[in-house]
Amino acid sequence: PILIVSLCFAAYLAGSVLFAMPVCRAWQLPDPRVLGSGNPGATNVFRNGGWKPALVTLLLDAFKGWLPVWLANVAGFSIIVQAMVALCAVTGHMIPVFYRFKGGKGVATGLGAGLALAPLTTGLMAVLWLLAMWRWRISALASVIAIVSGPVISALLEPDTLPLFGLLTLLIVVRHRNNLIRLAQGRETGL
Ligand code: G3P
Repeated sequence: PILIVSLCFAAYLAGSVLFAMPVCRAWQLPDPRVLGSGNPGATNVFRNGGWKPALVTLLLDAFKGWLPVWLANVAGFSIIVQAMVALCAVTGHMIPVFYRFKGGKGVATGLGAGLALAPLTTGLMAVLWLLAMWRWRISALASVIAIVSGPVISALLEPDTLPLFGLLTLLIVVRHRNNLIRLAQGRETGL
C-alpha cells in the first residue's frame, strides 16, 4: 500500500507540472493564463503561439499522464491501481500544487494516461476528437464529444477500464463547464 500511495502522489506531482508554462516561457510567449481562454493547455498555447509550442505542450502534458500509468503497469499493479494513478495525474493537472491549485482541463493528460491503460478506447476517442475538430474547429467541443464517448467505447472494447473513463469523463466535463455554457450560447470561439 505504501508503494501505491507513493505512486499516486508521484503521479499527482507529475500532473501538477503545467507544461504550457515553461513552453510559453521558452517561446517567449505571454502567460497562457492571462490570454485567450486563460487555460494553461495546448489549445490556448496554440491561440497565442501557433502549432509548434502547442504540439510540444500537448506531447509533454500527455507524457506526464502516460509515464506514471506505464510505471504502475510494468510494476505489475492491477488495472484499478493503474486507473487510480491515471486519475491522480489528471487531478494534478487540474488542481496543481505548483500553481496555487489553479490548473487546466485535463484533456492532454487524460490522453496520455488513457493511452497507457486503454490504448484502443483512447485511440478511438482521439479519432473522434480529430473528426469533431475537422468538422467544427472548436477544441472544447471536440474534447467534450471525445470524452463523453469514452465510457461507451470502453464498455464495449475494454470494460475493465470503464470505472476510469466514467470518472475521467465526469472530471473533464465539469472542467469544461464554462466552455459548455459558451457553446450553448453560441459564444465559444474555438481556435
Ligand atoms: O483541452 C482544453 C480544450 O478542450 C479547451 O480549451 O482553451 O478552449 O478552454 P480552451
